[in-house]
Amino acid sequence: MMSTTLQLSDPFGALSYREAGSGEPLVLIHGVGMQSAAWHPQIEALSRSHHVLALDMPGHGGTSALPRGSDLPDYVAWLHAALAALGTGPVNLAGHSMGALIAVGFAVEHPDLLRRVALLNGVFRREAPARAAVTSRAEEIQKGQIDLETPLKRWFGSSAADQKARQEVAGWLSEVDPGGYATAYRAFARGDATYAGRFGGIACPLLALTGEDDPNSTPAMAQAMAEAAPYGKVEILPGRHMVNLTAANAVNTSLTRWLARPETAAQTNQEAKPMAKDMSALDPRALRDAFGTFMTGVTVVTSHDVDGAPIGFTANSFTSVSLDPPLVLVCLANSSRNYEALTKAPGFAVNILAEHQKDISNTFARPSEDRFAKVDWYTGPHGAPVLTGTSAWFDCSMHKTVPAGDHVILIGKVEAFDTSTAPGLGYARGAYVTPAAEAEALAKGAKLVVSALVERSGEVLLVDDGNGGLTLPQMEVGKSGASAALSQLIETSGLSADPGFIYSVFEDAAREHQHISFLCQAAEGAPKQGCFTALTPSTLMDIADPAMRIMLERFAKESHMGNYGVYFGNQISGNVRKIVSGS
Ligand SMILES: Cc1cc2nc3c(=O)[nH]c(=O)nc-3n(C[C@H](O)[C@H](O)[C@H](O)COP(=O)(O)O)c2cc1C
Repeated sequence: MMSTTLQLSDPFGALSYREAGSGEPLVLIHGVGMQSAAWHPQIEALSRSHHVLALDMPGHGGTSALPRGSDLPDYVAWLHAALAALGTGPVNLAGHSMGALIAVGFAVEHPDLLRRVALLNGVFRREAPARAAVTSRAEEIQKGQIDLETPLKRWFGSSAADQKARQEVAGWLSEVDPGGYATAYRAFARGDATYAGRFGGIACPLLALTGEDDPNSTPAMAQAMAEAAPYGKVEILPGRHMVNLTAANAVNTSLTRWLARPETAAQTNQEAKPMAKDMSALDPRALRDAFGTFMTGVTVVTSHDVDGAPIGFTANSFTSVSLDPPLVLVCLANSSRNYEALTKAPGFAVNILAEHQKDISNTFARPSEDRFAKVDWYTGPHGAPVLTGTSAWFDCSMHKTVPAGDHVILIGKVEAFDTSTAPGLGYARGAYVTPAAEAEALAKGAKLVVSALVERSGEVLLVDDGNGGLTLPQMEVGKSGASAALSQLIETSGLSADPGFIYSVFEDAAREHQHISFLCQAAEGAPKQGCFTALTPSTLMDIADPAMRIMLERFAKESHMGNYGVYFGNQISGNVRKIVSGS
């Protein structure tokens, strides 16, 4: 199919595109290094039902390049100009790779010109290593070092379909204009986060599709895009990056399904937009509680008032914002006594409190004449008070203040900072959280005892408890864990027994230990210690440990009925959850 050329409004130059079929418009935008011909399987299949327009991206095929340094929004503006020149009206828009980034931008900026959007092998908020890799590739390409073999290796496997597609793709790559390629690649490398925060406003049906083995436009990214969009769906197909060529039939089926999805009420404005909520109807208390479920750290934000006196307040609204430039933010209530001083201050410090600093948090959250009287602090390199013993601190210059409802957002540029190994203090649902201290207490504190409830033909292996009574074989768990302790118990009994399932877990507060009892089925043979005994009422009387006796009374009943449950609780109360139903 021949391509057609059309002159766009200034400054965009020429647009070349392929066109086929009639019906609702379906616009296709390829990825960096490709051209409109790369959509040939889709043009062929989907032009039976749609007016397909496959565009050459700027600097690719016959379309004029954008100026060097152009970014993703410039490509979105180009697409807008292209559709205006083509006179399409609202379109279905499918983009592949860089084309998917352009399509998202178009969906965000021009919702009224969009019926549906499909993102094939798109990228979404790359992780740092992937971002570093793509940035360094973009830099090499800018320098004119275009390596075509590496992407081909990444994109294609050894199957016949892959090898056929590889040949086609290699041909298109070798024809690409180096300048257009470099500009588009740079925009692609920088554009994965440009519109990522705005998926929530995309009101039309959205499809995020990728290959299950695409290492850069991953299934997780497709999933995240579909989840972020109110009408998003995800499809993961076999293949890598060029699924439109290597899994053409599956892609065509997915696109056909997507094109059949009805437009949403939110698009046609029959209903409120999906994300809009009537805030006046919300219960502020319930909202505050809901916000409070988000677990945070705790900080003390410090500065000086106009007289040079130190000021500070406790805040958990701290967020790191940007690495380059290094920005952080914190939200300050408009009602704060320090509002004037903080919003006019040349800077502030954020002190990330350590687990042992709950008292400091309380001091800076309650009214007090001199909050600094009870803490050790010094003046930070940029001038704000820095508290000692914290997990970290950031001494910032004021970057910007942004009024936001009943708070003002203080955005600080980090001028100096330091960190320590002290675990940070947590805060959730209005209470402090100190996981490191708890873990340490657990490790130092409670003993864990494992017992083996070895059963054979309705009888249980009982051993002498050393005080004239009976008990189950049991031992304290060492470093190697509960399973190892159970194996040792079985070995010591001289029996061959299969560890079954956990029969009971309880805290024995009286003896200060946690107890786990495993039910085990024993094969034939005489035990080295103890003997198999029926759990009659008189035998149960000989079990001196009350918690164990209660457990064995339950076992006697359950084994009689063949209906077991697992007990969770302490030595006095708890509950039994059924796990096996006997016939
Ligand atoms: C854990 C915790 C987190 C808090 N987070 C914030 C916050 O992010 N922003 C805020 O304005 N107040 C926050 N507060 C409340 C202030 O610390 C409190 O209102 C303080 O008295 C304000 O002091 P000021 O009126 O002297 O400025 C928090 C309190 C606690 C206990």
